[in-house]
Amino acid sequence: MEQVLQVKNLTTCLRLGKNDFPVVNGISFNLHQGRTLALVGESGCGKSMTALSIMRILPSPPALPSTGEVIYCDKNLLKISEGEMRDIRGNNIGMIFQDPMSSLNPVYSIGDQLLEVAEAHLGLYGDEAEQKVMDALEDVRIPDPKVRFHDYPHQLSGGMKQRVMIAMSLMCEPDVLIADEPTTALDVTIQAQVLNLMKDLQQKKGMAILLITHDMGVVADMADDVVVMYATKEIEKGSKRQIFQHKAHPYTEGLFNSLPQVHQPKEKLNVISGSVPSIKKLPTGCHFHPRCPYVMEVCRQGEVPDFPIGEEYSTKCWLYKEKTCE
Ligand SMILES: Nc1ncnc2c1ncn2[C@@H]1O[C@H](COP(=O)(O)OP(=O)(O)OP(=O)(O)O)[C@@H](O)[C@H]1O
Ligand SMILES: [Mg+2]
Repeated sequence: MEQVLQVKNLTTCLRLGKNDFPVVNGISFNLHQGRTLALVGESGCGKSMTALSIMRILPSPPALPSTGEVIYCDKNLLKISEGEMRDIRGNNIGMIFQDPMSSLNPVYSIGDQLLEVAEAHLGLYGDEAEQKVMDALEDVRIPDPKVRFHDYPHQLSGGMKQRVMIAMSLMCEPDVLIADEPTTALDVTIQAQVLNLMKDLQQKKGMAILLITHDMGVVADMADDVVVMYATKEIEKGSKRQIFQHKAHPYTEGLFNSLPQVHQPKEKLNVISGSVPSIKKLPTGCHFHPRCPYVMEVCRQGEVPDFPIGEEYSTKCWLYKEKTCE
């Protein structure tokens, strides 16, 4: 399987007042052609900041330039010029956001916005550009594309807006698509349609997808590989099969237990007690230790190493110091 993007030890700090606080701390993973990697974790753990760091579109201030490496086509994207990065954002790595209105311009018709992409990034004009836009709208199964072409974003439903965003980001046939909670704002049936659409387009075009979500149901449907993040750090990563089978890290176990079970009354939901700490007040040692039912003395001190527990499967948890899962 071809590796398309490598993220190595990605770290991003925010300067808040006089101090710098990591929001993304030492994240590493590889994206492969035709595969989907899900980045999962509770709200506030740093998932969006990871995506924005890769794309180099962090809000700055307060964000400082990221360190580590993001390797694409033998280049470290963290080191190239802003001009080069802009080309890569337009042509090679696409991104869709949770809120489509953050990418759609309310004052232009969706057709005009897509035409602009065809012109600026594909160098197409006139009929050719128009055909490309129609194809893109058909690809994302927008009914009556000829009519919809003239619609303004506010005339479309949430699901349709999200499809337009997907059309826009896929028009240049990127190698990598980063989708940050692409369906969280949509209701469940539309959510399933948009996710299926992404899967179909991936099969057709072979792009690697980085899918950010906190929904384990979405992970189950979509992911090949999974990185579980907690309070700025990765705490478990492997294939979906390995992670769903073993749930090695106590936090991963908690994430699964917080999924509503069909036959479980709501008040019996087994959620992880406590909440994600603020980046200004991260505990020492394993950031999860204050909430962990298996906490040991060693967990309160120092950096937790990455313990390999299977083939390309590892966790940052002292319980696995001498334990394998396979
Ligand atoms: N401008 C800012 N000032 C202070 N803290 C910030 C700022 N922007 C982000 N953060 C903090 O950075 C952390 C990571 O935020 P991020 O948006 O990446 O979380 P997330 O995992 O995407 O959460 P969600 O699931 O809610 O989207 C959070 O704790 C957030 O409070
Ligand atoms: Mg987010």
